[in-house]
Amino acid sequence: MAANRAFRVFEGGKFGVGRFADMADGELDAGNVVIRSLFASVNYKDALTALGKAKIVTRFPCTAGIDVCGEVSESADPRFKPGDRVIAHGFGIGADHDGGYQAVNRFPADWLVKVPDGPDAALTPFETAAIGVAGYTAALSVDLMELNGLAPGKGRVLVNGATGGAASVAIDLLAGRGYEVVALSGKPEAADYLRALGAAEVIDRKSYEFGTRPLEKPMWQGAVDSVGGEQLAWLARSMQNDGVIAAFGNAGGIEFKGSVLPYILRGVRLIGVNANSPMPLRSRIWQRLAGDLRPRHLDRIARRIRFADLPQAFDDLIAAKAVGRMVVDFSLG
Ligand SMILES: NC(=O)c1ccc[n+]([C@@H]2O[C@H](COP(=O)([O-])OP(=O)(O)OC[C@H]3O[C@@H](n4cnc5c(N)ncnc54)[C@H](OP(=O)(O)O)[C@@H]3O)[C@@H](O)[C@H]2O)c1
Repeated sequence: MAANRAFRVFEGGKFGVGRFADMADGELDAGNVVIRSLFASVNYKDALTALGKAKIVTRFPCTAGIDVCGEVSESADPRFKPGDRVIAHGFGIGADHDGGYQAVNRFPADWLVKVPDGPDAALTPFETAAIGVAGYTAALSVDLMELNGLAPGKGRVLVNGATGGAASVAIDLLAGRGYEVVALSGKPEAADYLRALGAAEVIDRKSYEFGTRPLEKPMWQGAVDSVGGEQLAWLARSMQNDGVIAAFGNAGGIEFKGSVLPYILRGVRLIGVNANSPMPLRSRIWQRLAGDLRPRHLDRIARRIRFADLPQAFDDLIAAKAVGRMVVDFSLG
């Protein structure tokens, strides 16, 4: 790979056009910490960005990639020294600051979290990137749902868009904490994968009868939704009393309709989850991801791809063909 090979989004089309490009020496965004990229994950949002399918990039050109795990090579901030491993996500990374698909990058120190490396809570750089924004969002969802009453033994938890990156980690985390997880997926052929992550039951979205009543039979104490649209509306209608929904995605649409009845008659709580957390929360969730919320099946969920494989990965994500997570391994060239 050339010195600073990147996958960048250039002006063109409706929302930009993505392609590989070599960046000039020193062509790095503002910041006081330079990192050498080790791994960067591939997310649904990255596919939208790279294929110019949504208005995500706010300046051209901009390197895509909403997260990156790397090793510090230069630091003007006393909190970081060469050799430290860090994860960066949020703060406009991959939208208005060059993102993860770039061999060398520069970020403000305030955006960086050290990869947990304690005696009781540690992650490898690959595990960190395999978790990435998607797994972070899943963990934040579980954290917020439990703060709102979710507890093992109170009922089943539905995970929607189940084979997706964030959803796969959510299944793993919830099953690991003793929840009875039901996976709702448009890929019935992936049922064995979902069961291996810990799903007790797998529902086929294509043949399931979702109903249209304002209140359906109460089935779930919790739900993790990466899909949005009509699916989110159905979830609200089918929650148990005081059920909690963590909603963070729009893979199935951005609008949903419904009545207030689930909220005022069943006390359903709809929690929005935004992964761009303030730093204290971010640090706490990453520590949990290395400790009590550590995923058990990352090797099954995530696979390494070459940098050159990014375009195929984007196509697979948009076509909803991908299962689990894909992680660019910069050492593969
Ligand atoms: N709010 C935040 O901070 C935040 C953070 C991370 C992610 N997100 C969002 O969360 C969503 C999931 O992200 P991800 O990276 O995990 O994406 P992903 O790997 O592409 O997973 C999305 C999954 O949703 C399902 N799906 C796709 N298209 C669908 C459709 N038209 N109707 C119903 N289901 C569909 C598919 O699962 P099945 O085939 O198994 O059903 C797919 O695997 C995205 O919308 C992303 O932008 C938001």
